[in-house]
Amino acid sequence: MSGSARDGRVKVFIETYGCQMNSYDTSVMYGILDEHGYARAETVDDADVVLLNTCSVRDLAEHKIHSRVGELRSLNRRGLSKTAVVGVTGCMAERMADDLAKGERKADLVLGVDQYAKLPGMLDLAVARVRGDKDGPKQLNVATGHQADVHYVAPPDAYPTNNSHLVTIHKGCDYKCTYCIVPATRGPQREKAPEVIEQEIRDIVAAGGREVTLLGQNVTAYRAPGLNFAGLLQRLNPIVGLERIRFLTGHPCDMNEELVKTMSGLDKVCPWLHVPAQSGSDRVLRRMKRHYTAAEYLGLVATARRWLPGVTFSGDFIVGFPGETDEDFRMTLELVREVRYDQTFNFKYSERPATPAAKLDDDVPLEVKKERLAELMALQENVWSSMASAAVGEVWDVAVEDEARRPAGAWRARSLHNRKVLLLDHEGFVGQTLSVRITGCEATTFFGVAV
Ligand code: SAH
Ligand code: SF4
Ligand code: F3S
Repeated sequence: MSGSARDGRVKVFIETYGCQMNSYDTSVMYGILDEHGYARAETVDDADVVLLNTCSVRDLAEHKIHSRVGELRSLNRRGLSKTAVVGVTGCMAERMADDLAKGERKADLVLGVDQYAKLPGMLDLAVARVRGDKDGPKQLNVATGHQADVHYVAPPDAYPTNNSHLVTIHKGCDYKCTYCIVPATRGPQREKAPEVIEQEIRDIVAAGGREVTLLGQNVTAYRAPGLNFAGLLQRLNPIVGLERIRFLTGHPCDMNEELVKTMSGLDKVCPWLHVPAQSGSDRVLRRMKRHYTAAEYLGLVATARRWLPGVTFSGDFIVGFPGETDEDFRMTLELVREVRYDQTFNFKYSERPATPAAKLDDDVPLEVKKERLAELMALQENVWSSMASAAVGEVWDVAVEDEARRPAGAWRARSLHNRKVLLLDHEGFVGQTLSVRITGCEATTFFGVAV
């Protein structure tokens, strides 16, 4: 491998899988690499080094990575790509470092989620080895393990200024939902200090950003000394130049009346709640250890709607959890009908090694999981299309995101309650906030004209 950026620097491309926590970490890694003399490759084909920033949440996600490592290796071996170094970072690196560091599809380096400060050093060694530096130190190419005090800050310029800037406010998760691998891959919940979060947002605003999305597996469980999540929102809302604050994910147990009441008094906090229910059956929720009932969840939705008129909801569901009967599944459908989500992310249960649910019999046949998934998605589509047509004629505040690719002259915008709006014949600028009347809708995109 020869340094191949025009200035001789080695070029790195990071492929990001999984959730926004990983998107944020990818920016963090690019930031660290920039500081250490590596260049960013625009595409994977242009990269000397490819890092796969991975997800372990479902079995399929991990399978994809094993084959992707193999594919990248084989392209390079056959002289079809210049990618001589392949690394694995993220949740899967944390979970199965040993497997990833050996065998035919072995990665050159494996870095867990709290180890990214070591990236430049390990990459230097991996690059030296590929270049045939036989005298180079016999490196350890694996670093994993959770470190309570490690919190990353992505550079403020890591995102386009028009879209929301992700700001991770804490890491890990202290819930132990029985199906979930995240507590194992991300470790216990640990907070980024409020003053660090505040400074990060000030830097984003100084770099031209106007909107942030606060990020964590359970942002609503944020707890710094003397400050819960509602308090954090109160502290961030006054930042001069910041216009919008969004956040995800919320856990139903921490999303209480105090929070939505606080939100109702904060002008920058957008009225959109991503708050996964996972199931509508109390029996299943108990076995998932979610610590709420369907009725409590619906109560929370009602409370939020009382305090935040026009608030929208999105959520996640798992179908085919061990022991889920058809009756249980009907209750999930019922809950989806009642909540009227804007969007649901629906998954077939995937058994994860060493999670509590792995001890249960994964007894819902794949075919049944598939049928339930399809039925849930079809219902959500129906619910959504009636909600969407009812919204035509309404006036919403939207933030302009960018020029649309099609049709010419149109702009992409997002409503404060997180709906996509295409502004036809609009003349404006990125980041602008304006009121629009909704004139129509196609799938999940609305059409609007400025009023
Ligand atoms: N912290 C968030 C989401 C974590 S993972 C929360 O608590 O809601 C994102 C989603 O993946 C989950 O909400 C869940 O719906 C899904 N998921 C997690 N583990 C899964 C598994 N073993 N099988 C299928 N889906 C899973
Ligand atoms: Fe996983 Fe539950 Fe934590 Fe979400 S709250 S990350 S589903 S353990
Ligand atoms: Fe996946 Fe890790 Fe996120 S397991 S969902 S990338 S926290």
